[in-house]
Amino acid sequence: MNAHEDSSRHRRAALFAVVCVLGAGTGGLTGCKQAERVPTPGSGGDAVTEALDAGSAPDAGGITLSPTIPPDVDVPQGNPTLADLQHDFDAYSWNTFIAMNWPVGADGGVDTSQKPGQHGDNPTVWEGWMPSTSIFLPGGAPPPAWGAPPILPPICQGKLQPGEKFLTQVGKTPGLLSESVQPFDTGPLIDQQGNYTRFEILVNKVMFDQIVAQQLYSKAGQQRFNAPANFKCGNASTGEQGAIMVKAAWKPLENPADAARFHTATALVYTPASENPRIQESCTKQRVGLVGFHVGHKTQGAPQWIWSTFEHVDNVPTEEQVRAGTLEASYNYYDPACKDCVVNKTPPRPWDPNKKIIVNGKVFKSQIVRVDVRPQLMKDSARIHNEEARALLAAVNPASVWTNYELISTQWPTQPGDCATAELQDGSPAPQFLANSTLETYIQGKVPNVSSSCIRCHNNAAMTTAKSSDFTYLLERAQ
Ligand code: HEC
Repeated sequence: MNAHEDSSRHRRAALFAVVCVLGAGTGGLTGCKQAERVPTPGSGGDAVTEALDAGSAPDAGGITLSPTIPPDVDVPQGNPTLADLQHDFDAYSWNTFIAMNWPVGADGGVDTSQKPGQHGDNPTVWEGWMPSTSIFLPGGAPPPAWGAPPILPPICQGKLQPGEKFLTQVGKTPGLLSESVQPFDTGPLIDQQGNYTRFEILVNKVMFDQIVAQQLYSKAGQQRFNAPANFKCGNASTGEQGAIMVKAAWKPLENPADAARFHTATALVYTPASENPRIQESCTKQRVGLVGFHVGHKTQGAPQWIWSTFEHVDNVPTEEQVRAGTLEASYNYYDPACKDCVVNKTPPRPWDPNKKIIVNGKVFKSQIVRVDVRPQLMKDSARIHNEEARALLAAVNPASVWTNYELISTQWPTQPGDCATAELQDGSPAPQFLANSTLETYIQGKVPNVSSSCIRCHNNAAMTTAKSSDFTYLLERAQ
């Protein structure tokens, strides 16, 4: 047995060691030795939260300024506690964020002569990945080659300069404006200037190549494939990355003075025409700022994928901060001066991104708060890792835009199973619930089967053939 095999065995055993704690939420506590973490009767049955609240303080360390996306979580501890594991996953998340946001040169390749934020802001690695809008094409046509410019609707053609992006999606799901029935509570997210937030999804080359090779980009290809999807796992022994997918949320920067605190991009923002509600087709150039960032990476240690979620620090206050009155002067999605705004409510219809919504003569703005259901251990771990990352990034440049982003948490499977197996169970995710205020805005909380859990919701994703799509919702876009 070589050292790598040894360490990956170690890791597997390590992940299983905490199952007895977390399994409490989904089943019995049989065989659990850590009796002190068993919830007491009358605790409301939220065993996992209780267990995690009793956990010891997490470690710091493990974050480095490196352009290499970690191929898997690194679990260096011999017999890790739950706090150790959350630390390992949160350090993994920050290392992934740093590497994915590493500066790229004019050719789109990683520029190792620079560090993130050295000049304030920088174009990033992931923005050169393949957008979903170029993969799932009308009629199931094959996607263009990796790195091809975005495929634009006629109204946008000729308007895109190199380095600019194409944005269209309004809301968590693509059909938000045209479909009146949604699978879960969702709606547009409107910033404090009354503008609609936009979303995009991109995949890395590993994931793109597999979608192309297996022809999963079309309905016909999925029928021929006729099996559950099983994407490649990142592997620490070989250093190879697995399939990685990103979902990013952007807000228009109506006032150019607001740009300094954001990672920004220039985007062609497209709104397709619609009959009901009546929406006019439009394509306008806008400066946009990054407000939300989801990453999913499928790895050997976490074949249910590792789910990391980041936000801009100015997005929203927590419920607790609102109650205590410890508020900042302004937020991207909350108005501290508004006393009668209803929080976390979808905007009134009709939804037309070309117009601001006017209610009682005033521009409608979403009033969003974070429903912070993270167990204390996860809160502490995120805070410690955010402080550590911010110090590293500020040492490069105190004015780096990257110091304005925070990890909310990392969701990972405590019972990971084997990468070779398709259609895995959910693997008992920790933490149980996780939401990004810009992406799971309206489904925050901790109501089982209703509130946001990345792994549990994504485990329902299927292809157009109804076969499992391996935790990605992308394949159901195939035509
Ligand atoms: C209630 C269900 C639900 C929850 C909870 C949820 N997502 Fe998603 N997610 C979706 C859907 C639906 C899409 C696809 C939307 C589309 O095609 O535009 C998606 C898309 C994504 C994508 C792009 C790849 C893909 O599968 O389409 C990523 C990455 C992602 N989500 C990460 C997360 C993370 C991280 C969390 C937890 C913090 C999370 N999601 C929580 C439903 C969910």
